[in-house]
Amino acid sequence: MEQLKHLQNDIEKALAELKVSHQPQALYEPIRYFLSIGGKRIRPILVLLAARMFNNKREDVLNQALAVELFHNFTLVHDDIMDNAPLRRGIQTIHEKWNPSQAILSGDVLMIVAYQYLMRTDAQYMEALMHSFNKMAIEVCEGQQMDMDFEQRDDVTIPEYIEMIRLKTSVLLGCALEIGAIISDASENDRKNLYDFGVNIGLAFQIQDDILDVYADAEKFGKQVGGDIISNKKTYLYLTARSHANEAQNAIFEAQMSNSNHAEKVEIIRGLYDELNIRQKSEVAMQEFYEKAMQHLGAISVDENNKTALIGLADYLMGREV
Ligand code: IPE
Ligand code: IPE
Ligand code: MG
Ligand code: MG
Ligand code: MG
Repeated sequence: MEQLKHLQNDIEKALAELKVSHQPQALYEPIRYFLSIGGKRIRPILVLLAARMFNNKREDVLNQALAVELFHNFTLVHDDIMDNAPLRRGIQTIHEKWNPSQAILSGDVLMIVAYQYLMRTDAQYMEALMHSFNKMAIEVCEGQQMDMDFEQRDDVTIPEYIEMIRLKTSVLLGCALEIGAIISDASENDRKNLYDFGVNIGLAFQIQDDILDVYADAEKFGKQVGGDIISNKKTYLYLTARSHANEAQNAIFEAQMSNSNHAEKVEIIRGLYDELNIRQKSEVAMQEFYEKAMQHLGAISVDENNKTALIGLADYLMGREV
């Protein structure tokens, strides 16, 4: 998707121009490192595409786009500590390259700078933007805590899982689009449908993320393959597998929970997923959320031509490999 590349370049350029202080170096060096290593830049692009959909020509929309990407990067830096993740975007995570204290603090700064960018707009939008952003930020924390709580539980249900990923992942996509709608003076109804489009795309996106965690090509993926299995994450794949497994298969799952040989654990659990056809079942669930998302996009009162870029982005996300 050619347009996607252009937009990614715009975000990349803006991030490179972002003035990050230098002292203390131990605080700012990790931020510079993290922001310079790319990423798909999906969320800022959602802000830009939402604004375009409503024919918003304001140049300062880029500020709110950056706010969303900075916030996302903050969540990743802290998420990698929580998930004990060694790799992100193909390179060492901050807490591994430096230490967890520096990762916490540089993450904090990223979050605060996100708010600085969010507020760089007309005063008339401030209240609505803050309300949407704050609500999202608290929900992401709730989702992250649920995700960790679930590691210790063996009775998590699919509806609980969906609620957890709605919070940890989807509301940020919804919020990015909602921000685009707010600064474009969209109607309440359009704003709500756009948000719901984002939330449903986000649910499909996180299920895809769960699939990639098990099945991605390690070279391309940039994250540790099998990380969710190692941490006993209750992913869509895991929960679906447990509900379809027979007694013997369930016994293997139980036994693997405490296997400290990580490579062996990943191989055995992936084998069970294959036997149970879990990848395909997960793709069906993704497709259902994609279709719900499209219904909400369809209900927005702008010319259908104005929606093609968002549809293109959603399609790209459904087939992503990283
Ligand atoms: C990773 O998000 C976190 C999830 C919600 C799964 P992305 O896959 O968008 O990460 P980057 O920004 O492209 O690295
Ligand atoms: C991402 O969940 C949620 C947030 C970062 C808030 P994951 O833990 O699955 O994301 P990755 O796989 O590490 O990117
Ligand atoms: Mg996580
Ligand atoms: Mg993680
Ligand atoms: Mg993941």
